[in-house]
Parts: sequence; C-alpha cells; structure tokens
Amino acid sequence: MPTAKLILDDTTVELPVIVGTEGERAIDIRKLRAQTGYITYDPGLANTGSCQSSITFIDGEAGVLRYRGYAIEDLVEHSSFVEVCYLLIYGELPTRAQLEQFQDRLTHHSLLHEDMKKFFEGYPPSAHPMSVLSAMVASLSTYYPDSTDPEITELNMIRLLAKLKTIAAFSYKKSIGQPYIYPRNDLSYTADFLHMMFAVPSEPYEVPPLFEKVLDVLLILHADHEQNCSTSTVRMVGSSGADLFASISAGISALSGPLHGGANQAVIQMLEAIREDGGNYQKYLEKAKDPNDPFRLMGFGHRVYKNFDPRARLIKKLVDQVFNEMGINDPLLEIAQKLEEAALKDEYFIERKLYPNIDFYSGILYRAMGIPTNMYTVLFAMGRLPGWIAQWKEMREDPHTRIYRPRQIYQGSTHRPYVPIDQRG
Ligand code: SDX
Repeated sequence: MPTAKLILDDTTVELPVIVGTEGERAIDIRKLRAQTGYITYDPGLANTGSCQSSITFIDGEAGVLRYRGYAIEDLVEHSSFVEVCYLLIYGELPTRAQLEQFQDRLTHHSLLHEDMKKFFEGYPPSAHPMSVLSAMVASLSTYYPDSTDPEITELNMIRLLAKLKTIAAFSYKKSIGQPYIYPRNDLSYTADFLHMMFAVPSEPYEVPPLFEKVLDVLLILHADHEQNCSTSTVRMVGSSGADLFASISAGISALSGPLHGGANQAVIQMLEAIREDGGNYQKYLEKAKDPNDPFRLMGFGHRVYKNFDPRARLIKKLVDQVFNEMGINDPLLEIAQKLEEAALKDEYFIERKLYPNIDFYSGILYRAMGIPTNMYTVLFAMGRLPGWIAQWKEMREDPHTRIYRPRQIYQGSTHRPYVPIDQRG
C-alpha cells in the first residue's frame, strides 16, 4: 500500500495513500491532527477529497465525464434522462422491466398535494423560481416525513424526482398569471414538463418532438458532476441526518449562485448586455481580463476542467443541429461564437486554461425553446436532481460517513479582559 511521508519539525509521519479505480491518489489525513497537531488548509477545497464515491468520474485535464463508468457521449447518444436517473441512483443500467416500472412510478407520483398549490399564492410574480423551488422542496418534508424505513426513503426519492418538474412548471405558470397545467400520464418525463410549461386549457398543445429530445439531452448532461458546490452542500446537510428534501433544498440554493448553476442565466444577460452595447464583445473580453474589474466572462472557466468541458462540446453540437433544423438565427448566438473564438485565442484565457463550460451555450438552447431566462437554472436543477439524490443516498449508506465539521486557523484577537462600557473609547 503506497504511503506519504511528512516531515514536521523533528518528526516524520507516514500517511496512508488511497488509490481510486481510475488511478487518482489521495493522502489520507484522517489521523494527521491526532498524530501531529497540524491540520491542512485548503479554502474552496480545491485539493481536498471529501468522500470516496462510485457515481461520477471526471478527468478535468482530458475532458472526460462518465456516470457509473458510462461515457457521457454514449449516454447522450443511446440513453434517456429517466434511464440515466435510474443508472445514477441504483448504479446499473435498468432492464426493460426495471425501466418501465421506474417510469411508471415517476408518472404516478407527479401530482402535488392539492394543498401545496396554496403555497404558490404567497409568492410575488417577480419571485425568482429558484427561491420558490428551494422553498417548495423543503416543504415536501411536511407532507412526506423522513423515515428509517428504506422503502419510504426510496419512495421519497421517487416522489421528489416526479414532483420537481411539476413544482417548476407551476411556479412558471403562477409567475405569468396562467392556470396550472396538470401532469399527463401519457407523456414522457421531458414532454410532460414542456406540456405543463407551455400548454393552456383553452386549446390543445403538441410538444415539439425536437424540443422533447433536446431537453432530454440537456437534462442528461446536467445529471451529475461529482463533488461540485451544490452536491457537496447536499452531502454536508445530509451528513447531519437531515432528510432528503431538506438536503436537496439546500443544494438548490447553492446551485442558484451565478458562479455555479446561475451562470446559464448570467451568460444570456451578459450576451444581451453586449448586444445592447453595439455587439462590442472585445470590450467585455478586456473587462474580464482586468484584475480591477469584478466582471467575469460568464460560462467560461471551471475548477476541474482545464480543457474543454465535454458537456459544452455536446451542447454546441446540439445548438448547430437545432438552429439548422429550426432555421432560426439568434444574434446572441453570433456574439457567443465570436466571444468564444476570441477568448480561445487570448493569452489570458489560454494561460489560465479557461474554456467554455456547460453554461456557455445551454441558455442559447433554452432560449430557442422559448424557456424564460429566469427558468434556466431551474432546468439545471431538474437535470442535477438524480445526481444529488444518488450522492445523498451514497452518503447515507456509507459506513464511513461522518458529519461534515471542517476545522479552521483562528486569526482573531487573542485573549483579552472585558472592558466596562464607561471605560470604552
Ligand atoms: C458550474 O464544479 C462543477 O462541477 C460546477 C458545474 C457542475 O456541473 O456542477 O460544472 C457547473 O458551476 C460551471 C461553472 C459556471 N460558472 C461560471 O461560468 C462563472 C464564471 N466562471 C468563474 O467564476 C470561475 O471560472 C469558476 C467559478 C467556474 C471557477 O473558479 P475557480 O476554480 O475558483 O477559479 P479562480 O476563480 O481561482 O480563477 C483562476 C484564475 C483567476 O485569475 P488570476 O487571479 O489567477 O489572475 O482565472 C480567472 C480568475 O480571475 N478566471 C476568470 C474566469 N474564471 C476564472 N477570468 C475571467 N472570466 C472567467 N470566467
């Protein structure tokens, strides 16, 4: 078994090394503080493994992404979002019978409790749907409490997968003053969501097959991404024993930030700002490079991918296919393409290995499908839900799981006596 030697002051400690199935190596520091009194320091945890997991593998240098060993490219070509949900949560591709039963369970749990519709009445039309989504998911705990019975826990996973799209669509309908459209059991998961989003009671609505396929692929591409910010949040909250809905609600909140899942909305807002500024994308490239300017090129850069995000490549191919098939041209797409081309040739981005990430082009596709901008991150959450559930389940079932409780290095005042108020300056 490989080990690592650490020389501290006049002692040398030998630490075990953990090797993963893909050859990744970690120094096991679980006994470091007990043996040396030292802790490690790694803000943002960029160099720290929080767990061992069998769900998703990423090779950031090579631009590789696999769910349970299956390459994202194969899953996009051959699988479906519902099948990928099953794969992530249960670890294996389902048999036909298993898939049909899983799909049937999702279909028959997609209704919300009628009383939950009242919750939407309290939100202003301007409410961001991510805030509504996080609150509604947390509220599911009040209808479906946690249980030590594994069958109830699994049923709650099914309920959450089935109801999240209904909550998302209802929050959109409420925000535009249209009546809720109920789930339909004769539609696929993805078609049902689009139908709930865009149908109205006064006339039939046929979900465009192209949009059903495109959204299904987008949901697959978003389904999991190992220990990103929101998934780590789900694991951290769940590590205290908090129930599934509370843990996922926290993950939704973490995802809403513009540096994370909120980036897909921020990219479109950035492209619109450039368009309003006469299409002057070079100006924004310079702003992104200026250390004194907080502006960042949204949809660019990644903590793990120091090469192209494989998901961005696949989304870009989808953009070309959809725009050709629909015969549309979107000025924002042209700006995005020019921005990408200029950035990829610019020393600042090359030196820092900044490439387009999943969020750079996804908004362009959502826009082509008529999805409103403030719903983009909700669709990211819908895609990421099976990954969050799978990671929460793995954390719960892992005997090595401990409550997350990091340490710190204290830099505040050392001990000082209390000063009575009439003696203060
Ligand atoms: C997602 O982790 C995941 O897996 C996330 C995700 C998932 O599927 O869950 O992939 C989804 O969140 C994708 C990322 C979406 N966010 C954005 O597109 C926002 C813009 N990108 C950045 O804010 C940034 O690239 C991050 C947040 C994505 C990564 O930040 P890091 O790893 O902390 O990198 P950093 O801030 O340390 O940057 C390193 C350098 C810095 O320059 P210097 O201080 O060395 O001079 O690169 C610069 C940064 O200023 N930089 C950028 C930049 N991203 C990094 N400069 C301009 N524009 C950018 N977008």
